[in-house]
Order: sequence, then C-alpha cells, then structure tokens
Amino acid sequence: MQTTRQLLNLAVKQLQSSSAPRLDAEVLLASLLKIDRSRFYAHPETAVAEELTGDFRRLLHNRKGGCPVAYLTGTKEFLSINFAVDQNTLIPRPETELLVELALKHIPGNSPHQILDLGTGSGAIAVAVAAARPACKITAVDLSAGALRVARQNAAAMTLSNITFHQSDWFGGLQNKCFDAILCNPPYIDYLGKTPVSSETRYEPRIALDGGYKGQTCIRAIIPAAVKRLNPGGFMIIEHAHNQGDFVRDQFKSNNYQDVSTHKDYAGHERHSMARRP
Ligand SMILES: C[S@@+](CC[C@H](N)C(=O)[O-])C[C@H]1O[C@@H](n2cnc3c(N)ncnc32)[C@H](O)[C@@H]1O
Repeated sequence: MQTTRQLLNLAVKQLQSSSAPRLDAEVLLASLLKIDRSRFYAHPETAVAEELTGDFRRLLHNRKGGCPVAYLTGTKEFLSINFAVDQNTLIPRPETELLVELALKHIPGNSPHQILDLGTGSGAIAVAVAAARPACKITAVDLSAGALRVARQNAAAMTLSNITFHQSDWFGGLQNKCFDAILCNPPYIDYLGKTPVSSETRYEPRIALDGGYKGQTCIRAIIPAAVKRLNPGGFMIIEHAHNQGDFVRDQFKSNNYQDVSTHKDYAGHERHSMARRP
C-alpha cells in the first residue's frame, strides 16, 4: 500500500502540464478519500487502500487528458457554497461571484424582490442570491434539461424554497412575468472565432459557451427582451467578455435603459455591465 505522501508526489510528476499540479493532486485525492486536504499535512504517512489507489490513477489519467478537476470531483465551490456540477453545467467561475456581490449591493436585506436568473446552469447565481436574500423570490431558467436537474439538486441541498426552475428559451416560457432584477451570465464566447477555446473549456457544454457570431448573438437577443421584463426602476446585470464592454453598453443605451455602468473583474477586465429600466 502507498501513503498519501507517496501518491501525491507521484501525481505531481504526472500533472506537470497542469497550471497547479500540487493543488489538483490534493483536491482529487481528498475528494476520493472524502477527507479535508489539511490531513495530507497532518498525517502524510496514512496508507491508502489498493482499490482507491487504482481509482486515483484513473482520475490522474483523466486530468492529464484535460478534464477539469471540478468534473472529476463533481463539485465546485462558489461563494463558499459547494455546488454539484457535471458535464451538463458550466463550472461556475470566480468572476461570476462578483456579479452576485454586485447584485446583492442593490437588493436590500429584507426586500421581497422578484429576481430572474437567466441561463442558470448549475444554479450558482440563483442559489447564492436565494441563500443571501431569503425574502426574495428567484426564478431560474435554462434551456438545458440536464443543467436544470443539477440546479434543482443544488437548491435542494441548501434547503431553499424561494427558487422556482423553468425550462425556457430565455424569456419564451415565462408568460408575461416581470422582475425587479434580471441577472444573466449568457454564453458569450466567440466559439468558432480566431482565439481557440481552451482544452479544458472544450469539456464544458457548448450551449453554455457559444455566443454565436463574435460572441454577441445571445446578448443581442437578451438585452432588448429584458427591458420589457423589468419592473420600472428594476435593473439588469449581465456578464460579458473582457472586450464586449462597449458593445454591451451600446445595447443597453439603444434599448432605452438608464444608469449604464460597467464593473471590472479581479484581473481588471470589464466583465459585468448593469443598467436600469426608467
Ligand atoms: C455561461 S452559462 C452560465 C451558467 C451559470 N449561470 C453560471 O454563471 O455559472 C450560460 C447558460 O445559459 C444556458 N442557455 C443557453 N442558451 C439558452 C437559451 N436559449 N435559453 C435559456 N438558457 C440558455 C446554458 O444552458 C447555460 O447553462
């Protein structure tokens, strides 16, 4: 039998093509052994059963092939909440945490706001907002039945009863309902464009990433439709590519939104634009 120290050293050598070999190895082994990573430092000589060693080697093989760690462990942390993810869902990104934080700044603590999460994926935005603002009612929609299954599971794990999920092509399945806030991280990648999509991103569902021509098609559909679904004074926040700030602001302005602003991500890139219905 090998110890956790030996397995981790072996794994780090195998994962040299990863940007964080040690972290990847620890996260994968901790998930497999169902322990906290800190145990690797407190008890490095713990022996690992042969059967689990075999499972670990298979995980390393898949990781070496480019499969994201989150799909191998089946979870991703987002705003300190553990979300189930699978290949039907985008892996929630750290920059999207900023979208939620920005939204919460504009949603008072006890307000019974009606909020829409458009393209909910794993439910990351909907669940984080619902947990932080229990008086709000959240509607979460996605076209993907597979993503909605995972999102429902994530809401149930948090025992949240203030989210309803709908399978809908953007606003198509929402009758005439209006909202105080619309939050959206749409597909915005120029999937077939000049910049190749990274090998890890290729594992994620194309429906979650492919923003059509110049990555603009979904945004062009959503922004004009959203203004008709906002209550007066209501706001929309939309995530976009770092080079789409001008385009998104123009979309807001030409559709008669007010108070248009753009907010930067951790890397200093324009990432979220916000606007209000007058
Ligand atoms: C970039 S992902 C965002 C997922 C999640 N909100 C997040 O931030 O991690 C975009 C989501 O939009 C969904 N989507 C794509 N086209 C759609 C459409 N026409 N109507 C509804 N949802 C759609 C995808 O299935 C995917 O879950």
